[in-house]
Amino acid sequence: MNIATTRGLNGGNALPTQAKKWARLLEVPYIERQGNGSLQAIKDAYNLDGILVATKNGPQLFSDEGILFYHPGMAVLRLQKIFQGEQDNFVAACELKLGSRILDATLGFASDAAIASYVVGNDGLVQGLEASKPLWFLVTEGLQHYVSDEPLLDQALRRIKTKWTEAGIYLKTLASDSFDVVYFDPMFKYPVKLSSNMKPLRPMAYTEPLVRATLTEALRVAPLVVVKERTPRVLRDLGINELLGSKYSKVKYGILRRKANETT
Ligand SMILES: C[S@@+](CC[C@H](N)C(=O)[O-])C[C@H]1O[C@@H](n2cnc3c(N)ncnc32)[C@H](O)[C@@H]1O
Repeated sequence: MNIATTRGLNGGNALPTQAKKWARLLEVPYIERQGNGSLQAIKDAYNLDGILVATKNGPQLFSDEGILFYHPGMAVLRLQKIFQGEQDNFVAACELKLGSRILDATLGFASDAAIASYVVGNDGLVQGLEASKPLWFLVTEGLQHYVSDEPLLDQALRRIKTKWTEAGIYLKTLASDSFDVVYFDPMFKYPVKLSSNMKPLRPMAYTEPLVRATLTEALRVAPLVVVKERTPRVLRDLGINELLGSKYSKVKYGILRRKANETT
């Protein structure tokens, strides 16, 4: 993916310094922005997929689908429902409880990871993997700095550990039983046309489909593997037959369990 950094408008000298620092960290070019020059003009001139912009509100990612900046999204509403005692299907499918260790292999905007982090608490572990370098950076910064109206959510965000890597590659480096559960929420093969929240993420996201070999590796790393999907055929093709989900939603959580005779 071809990306570069530049400064936002109206932020003084701190912004170019910040953008240069990020460029060094991410090993991508820093592009000098002439006056109030448009981001689209820079993107076209340098043939970029996206531009990481240092703004006074933190990093923002500009692409053909618009501007992306970190926000906890649906995690806020989901957390309120958990406070009210409602079941969260992701938590139920992953069998999360205080102290659980979960590897979120497809971090994205970390809404699921935020919920997981709240549920597993201080003694648990949430590690998130993200294959897209700009998304990993944007979300990692957001998890460290975002301030919501709910201190318990902010504490949960700060506890999430992130890593820029592709899941299939990273799983191979992990010892058996390093986690209690590995979770996958890959980009849907057939995007939901009306779903606007994933739209700006798509041009920046890693979109290769999940393959069986990765699930086999995940089942070595944890005895429970959960895959979120909205097309049942995709889950069946991956050899997953146990499903959990609401009858009101197409989204299902496919569950794979290590068999008793499978050694680690
Ligand atoms: C649908 S989003 C995940 C949304 C996330 N569950 C949330 O709550 O915000 C999928 C994300 O996983 C990343 N991704 C997809 N496949 C991956 C893989 N094999 N390894 C690491 N990251 C992956 C994509 O770049 C994208 O950011």
